[in-house]
Amino acid sequence: MPRISKFKIIAIDGGAATGKSSTSRLVADRLNLMHVDTGAYYRALTYTLLNKNADPDAPETISSVLKSLVPGTFIEQRSAYLSINGQTLEDAEIRSPEVNKNVSQFAANQTVRDFLFEYQRDQARVAREQGSFEGMIMEGRDIGSVIFPDADFRFFLFADEATRKARRVEDGQVDLIAERDKRDSRRKNAPLICPEGAIQIDTGRLDLQEVVDYICKTVQAS
Ligand code: CDP
Repeated sequence: MPRISKFKIIAIDGGAATGKSSTSRLVADRLNLMHVDTGAYYRALTYTLLNKNADPDAPETISSVLKSLVPGTFIEQRSAYLSINGQTLEDAEIRSPEVNKNVSQFAANQTVRDFLFEYQRDQARVAREQGSFEGMIMEGRDIGSVIFPDADFRFFLFADEATRKARRVEDGQVDLIAERDKRDSRRKNAPLICPEGAIQIDTGRLDLQEVVDYICKTVQAS
């Protein structure tokens, strides 16, 4: 059946534990979009780099490992996952305390960001070629500012620190979110910022369903 509506690209940015993933998954289900969690991509690379003894303070060790890695995409239901040399990683591996501790340091490295730049932009083609999605929702730190500044919709989620810390405790994760946010916001390359013109949503004041309703209404109203 030909698609009636235009293929939409929705960018969701925000700091740690602002609700990006839960929100994006539910919006993807409701609007039939492919969901891309770019944080999981940085996490998968971090896991692999640590495993191969790359050091965030020695950029040459990073470049040399990246040269041996071939990225691919694995799609399960509505979510796209990064495969590295044909292998995907488990959630427990990419959300370990060790990865939480190191991911923002590797993510600040320009070679790491370059490795993922075209790959992330190309996910729009992957989603279109599936033929079954109405669009793509991509979440991260620099999606509306660097990866898809031309997205049809750009949202920026934020919440107070106490709410975000409580969410991580609820997830059972050891994660110094304030430190990670500071590092992500202060780095030179593609820092965490609210892109100009993005719609800001305070997820400390609205519950998950209210945030999802608001985003879906905004998209459907266009
Ligand atoms: O789940 P949470 O929001 O805590 O983090 P995440 O989305 O899994 O991202 C993990 C880390 O990856 C972030 O702290 C950033 O350092 C990095 N990241 C990035 O630099 N750019 C992105 N587009 C997505 C994540």
